[in-house]
Amino acid sequence: MSFSKTRQSSVPQRNGIAVVVDTLDKRLIEESQGIIQLLGKDGQESPEVSMFTLFFGRDGIELRLSQQVHHSGKRVDFLTIDRRIGTGNLSKKQPLPKAIGDHTAVVDATAGFGMDAARLALMGYTVTAIEQSPIISAMLRDGLWRAEMDAACKEALGGRLTIIESDSTQYLQHLKGVEVVYIDPMFPPKRKKSALPPGHIQALQSIVGFEDPVKTKELFNIALQTATQRVVVKRPLHAPQIASNPTTIHEGKIVRYEVYRSV
Ligand SMILES: C[S@@+](CC[C@H](N)C(=O)[O-])C[C@H]1O[C@@H](n2cnc3c(N)ncnc32)[C@H](O)[C@@H]1O
Repeated sequence: MSFSKTRQSSVPQRNGIAVVVDTLDKRLIEESQGIIQLLGKDGQESPEVSMFTLFFGRDGIELRLSQQVHHSGKRVDFLTIDRRIGTGNLSKKQPLPKAIGDHTAVVDATAGFGMDAARLALMGYTVTAIEQSPIISAMLRDGLWRAEMDAACKEALGGRLTIIESDSTQYLQHLKGVEVVYIDPMFPPKRKKSALPPGHIQALQSIVGFEDPVKTKELFNIALQTATQRVVVKRPLHAPQIASNPTTIHEGKIVRYEVYRSV
């Protein structure tokens, strides 16, 4: 199992969040203590006040709606990925692997809940997934831990997924031999407020916020200097390109993958 626990310039939590620990599992207690310490008194709220609760329990680390704290919530679960090679989720005909191409060493500079990173690792790429949020990073470590407790999933991952808790803008500057850097920033806020109840995307937004275009551009520029081959950026179809000179664009149904040659 491969992850760095060191908090290398990871970015502090922006909103207050409630933390509930309902387990005696040493691994989870350690993770919860790290988060509680990081949040400090001001960063923690009671479940009555905060929309989301970070719940450490029997099923691992979950983001739960505080109003439904006894119901299961969002956790990182790589076991839900259909692992049949070459089909569905793991087909190399999808726009993301097409954008990455034949290269094998990939840094996912914006890991989030790690689904892209895990799918790429299951396809055979060697992936370093970097996440700046300590809360999301803890959920990623928990997800990878559970995935590797499953012998078949562990074998399919082949030790090719590494999780790093850090700000990629800084971490990338020390990396060597990375062929491709992949960036999937948060989407900008929608003009219309959704009438839907808060889901996984809203949960992520409440933890890390919306895209900051200036920071995304800074990360993109550093990625161009770090990658030896190319930088791939995922954008919603309606958003403008991150730069004017992509070498290729691979379009999906709601997003596109812009490919840029490294400098
Ligand atoms: C849209 S999500 C990525 C979703 C991911 N591709 C997936 O499949 O689950 C964007 C994530 O990038 C992270 N992020 C944004 N800027 C970052 C940076 N400079 N360093 C590390 N993580 C960053 C955010 O905290 C957020 O969790």
